[in-house]
Amino acid sequence: MPTQRPRTKILVDGGDPEETAQVKAILGFVDGQTTNPSLIAKSPEVQQRIASGRKLDAEEEKAEYRKIVQRISPLVGTAGVSIEVFAELDTSSEEMLAQGREMFGWIPNAYIKYPCTHEGLRAVEASVREGIRVNVTLCFSQRQAAAVYSASKGSREPVYVSPFVGRLDDQGENGMDLVRNIKRMYERSDHHVHVLAASIRSLEHLLYSFALGVELATVPARVLVEWTKKSMPLPAPDYVFRPAGDTALIIGALLNRPHRRVSDCETL
Ligand code: G3P
Repeated sequence: MPTQRPRTKILVDGGDPEETAQVKAILGFVDGQTTNPSLIAKSPEVQQRIASGRKLDAEEEKAEYRKIVQRISPLVGTAGVSIEVFAELDTSSEEMLAQGREMFGWIPNAYIKYPCTHEGLRAVEASVREGIRVNVTLCFSQRQAAAVYSASKGSREPVYVSPFVGRLDDQGENGMDLVRNIKRMYERSDHHVHVLAASIRSLEHLLYSFALGVELATVPARVLVEWTKKSMPLPAPDYVFRPAGDTALIIGALLNRPHRRVSDCETL
């Protein structure tokens, strides 16, 4: 156990109950879990069915998803289990909401994950009115985070917004800049939206999330194991984040092309 547990709640980013149980055994706690259909598809249970030559239809896929989150649900603490609706670019808010209502009934500690799109935010608005807890995922900008704030205003439960750090890094940006800017933007707010750092790929991402005081971070088991191997350090008061994008900065400079950074803090 760490001498001091981080104030940030730690969620496992995955889709395998066995893995969650193992992480809990190593860490001594797991505050919550985030799942999504592609992580569930990678779970050993689903892989076994696929290997035996059986292709899952949409209903079977949903039944598997339900079974898996029902096994994860009792393993986690107060941050709950995020369940993602199946959505394509053309999925309507009504379709998402119908799924959200159903999935919310699967377990007592569900958060329904909606994409941060126009239709997704309409589903968020309706869900919040009905008392469905939500996690708004695929957040890549401060503007999206501001839209989540407006769409979910009045929620009696904390609303999660999930900025995707690693995916922004992949595009040559510094994903943690976005997390920092959203935190700063929400400073003068009613605090009903909690920042959940997602697409965390490294220990540095995790430590900087702690340093920024994000409310939650969802972390792959691999990174959590690495953290425990280092005795679960917390960032020192003078902690300085070294983004993986440093290399991108150097290459950008060499190519005489400025590295694109996430814009500075906007206000709500
Ligand atoms: O937390 C979101 C996650 O499941 C996606 O992570 O590493 O594939 O970008 P990643």
